[in-house]
Amino acid sequence: MRIDGKEYRTIWYEKNVVKIINQTKLPHRFIIKELRTVNDAINAIKTMEVRGAPLIGGTAAYGVVLAITEKKEPDFIKESAEELIQARPTAINLKWAVDRMMKKISGINSDQILDVALNEAKDICDEDEKFCKEIGINGLKIIEEIYNKKKDIVNILTHCNAGWLATINWGTATSPIYHAHKKGIPVHIWVDETRPRNQGANLTSYELNEEGVPNTIIADNTGGILMQRGEVDICIVGTDRTLSNGDVCNKIGTYLKALAAYDNNVPFYVALPSSTIDWDTKDVNDIPIEERNSEELSHIDGVDENNQIKKVLIYPHKSKSMNLAFDVTPAKYVTGLITERGITEASTEGLKKLFIK
Ligand code: MRU
Repeated sequence: MRIDGKEYRTIWYEKNVVKIINQTKLPHRFIIKELRTVNDAINAIKTMEVRGAPLIGGTAAYGVVLAITEKKEPDFIKESAEELIQARPTAINLKWAVDRMMKKISGINSDQILDVALNEAKDICDEDEKFCKEIGINGLKIIEEIYNKKKDIVNILTHCNAGWLATINWGTATSPIYHAHKKGIPVHIWVDETRPRNQGANLTSYELNEEGVPNTIIADNTGGILMQRGEVDICIVGTDRTLSNGDVCNKIGTYLKALAAYDNNVPFYVALPSSTIDWDTKDVNDIPIEERNSEELSHIDGVDENNQIKKVLIYPHKSKSMNLAFDVTPAKYVTGLITERGITEASTEGLKKLFIK
């Protein structure tokens, strides 16, 4: 997708170096950062220079490549792989990508291991781009259907950033939106600000602006009244981990939007590539919910009158705060899952029909 009219992917490999867009500086600065070691990759994931389930999966895959570049020692590669998986615990794509990398390089001799790993990391990223595009083609049908009935602008609410910045390209929740926009269907996006890191305001609105998609940022608590007023035709969100029974773990606040959608008969869709399905975890309480530094709540970044980025404290000095990063929306509140293989109900049967031959 485009930034300033130029096409980018979120991660690429050039002359032994992995390049990323440093998302902690957006929307105020567009900075390309180089990752040269596996520690650089781990830090980029931990500090959210890269974020979004598919993109941290892609970054972790390249992290394994960087580990091999540093030392072709099996113990070092194994420890690095483990550290990459631990960098952020909730999004399953991270473990999925590292496991796939480790399986691919297992038993490969040291002359070939780097090439094999590099090809696999590229395949993981190319596949994510392809799957996200297919999610868009599949999800477009739902938006088209709403437009054909309504014959007016389709209002879509989204939470967090499940846009192209969170994937390799296209995004998950945004891919149907971009496909609809490119087809000339008039869409308008309600962008949840998504406290505390403001991925909606800082990233989703930014990337939609760059693609010319009309959007309006709203405070996280506004979605409910907009749904009551009939100003939301559909919600589409992403996910960090979807269980095989259709329960959806995503950015904190998703659950409340799903409840409001349910109460107001607004369709609530979740868009995901199959790399985000956790086929193993059966109990929702076993999903590790990331608890992040409370400073993400108590402080906020912005630019001052001299266009300098500043971090300021917005809470009372003595107040405590708690920062859970994800919540789980039970499958019963999810109208459907939009995947690369098609759209299905959020249930074991639905997912099995699409993915298990
Ligand atoms: O904490 P983040 O910014 O990594 O959280 C991202 C989300 O919750 C996204 O909605 C999810 O990863 C899906 S991304 C296509």
